[in-house]
Amino acid sequence: EKGNHKHFMAKEMHEQPSVMAYALNNYTTPDGLKVEISGVDLDFTRYDRVTMVACGTAYLAAHVAKYWFEQVARLPVEIEVASEFRYREPPIAPRTLAVFISQSGETADTLAALRYCRDKAETILSIINVPTSTIARESDHALPIFAGVEIGVASTKAFTCQLTVLAAVTLLAARQRGEIDSDREAELLAQLGTVPGAMVDALALEPQISSICWDLSKASDILFLGRGAMYPLALEGALKLKEISYIHAEGYASGELKHGPIALIDETVPVVVMAPTDALFEKSVSNMQEVMARGGKVLLISDAEGLASASDGIWKSLRMPKVDPFVAPILYALPAQLLAYHTATTKGTDVDQPRNLAKSVTVE
Ligand code: F6R
Repeated sequence: EKGNHKHFMAKEMHEQPSVMAYALNNYTTPDGLKVEISGVDLDFTRYDRVTMVACGTAYLAAHVAKYWFEQVARLPVEIEVASEFRYREPPIAPRTLAVFISQSGETADTLAALRYCRDKAETILSIINVPTSTIARESDHALPIFAGVEIGVASTKAFTCQLTVLAAVTLLAARQRGEIDSDREAELLAQLGTVPGAMVDALALEPQISSICWDLSKASDILFLGRGAMYPLALEGALKLKEISYIHAEGYASGELKHGPIALIDETVPVVVMAPTDALFEKSVSNMQEVMARGGKVLLISDAEGLASASDGIWKSLRMPKVDPFVAPILYALPAQLLAYHTATTKGTDVDQPRNLAKSVTVE
């Protein structure tokens, strides 16, 4: 069932161009110009705020969605890990949309958080991969991500499909709230439509990534930096790496570096900078220079334009296809996953069944 792949994780990473396109298709009109969620009648003029709750990688999808909802739909979003949310029992304001994101739909903490919101939130929406799951059944509306069965413990295609559905919901919310017109909606959907092709190009970086990973596999600490919606991607890169390669990694918002983590930097610490060219690119570059000034080895992941303007003094680079900044977080998940995968396989760890981890955490 792994086809010609060595691990389920590899197979699932390589499925992303097709499953992402399929997920997007399921949330758009046949002409591809509008978001359409069949059978679900969501009205974003009924909400003043959104609370998103999840665990692990699903939580990081919520973290990206916070940037999208706030910037594109101008709707404030709170995000929280389910294990904290459920016991803090926060007050839920009226006109709140509560969103629960879970690949399995069975994660105990996420389910408990959903049950806590049951009679408090205006609407309970879940974004799940398993339509028959408990979380799906207990929601007012459950949106499937159409990723297909995910077997590798490290979540890959579920993450990019969660992001795809969340991007579609962002556009729906933005249109209903009058923040974007139909031209802008069609344009952003067209940008989402470019991602599967760009994913194919990103997957073609694999030989280059695997050669970088030989060096990464010798490190004992690796930092990931990103700004804006790339900050959650930095967190995802670090999470994936810890999970399957057992190398200590941390993700930071680039601007937070000088508030502490910069003390860790020396020539033994690779620093992965995820920085597509966007409005914050120059700021990321100056953080990167601070790292290099302290001897840090920078791996810059950017597009041709970014690499042309900022390659001086970097250790390695990965040239990603250029995409619209709105969709970049979906695309940049792939190098994050591939770095973790190839570092782990270089070390010889069990990628599909990492130690101490379960695919679905049904106990707290
Ligand atoms: C990371 C990973 C986990 C899950 C988390 C939530 O690669 O797979 O962090 O994302 O356990 O699981 P679900 O989405 O099933 O609720």
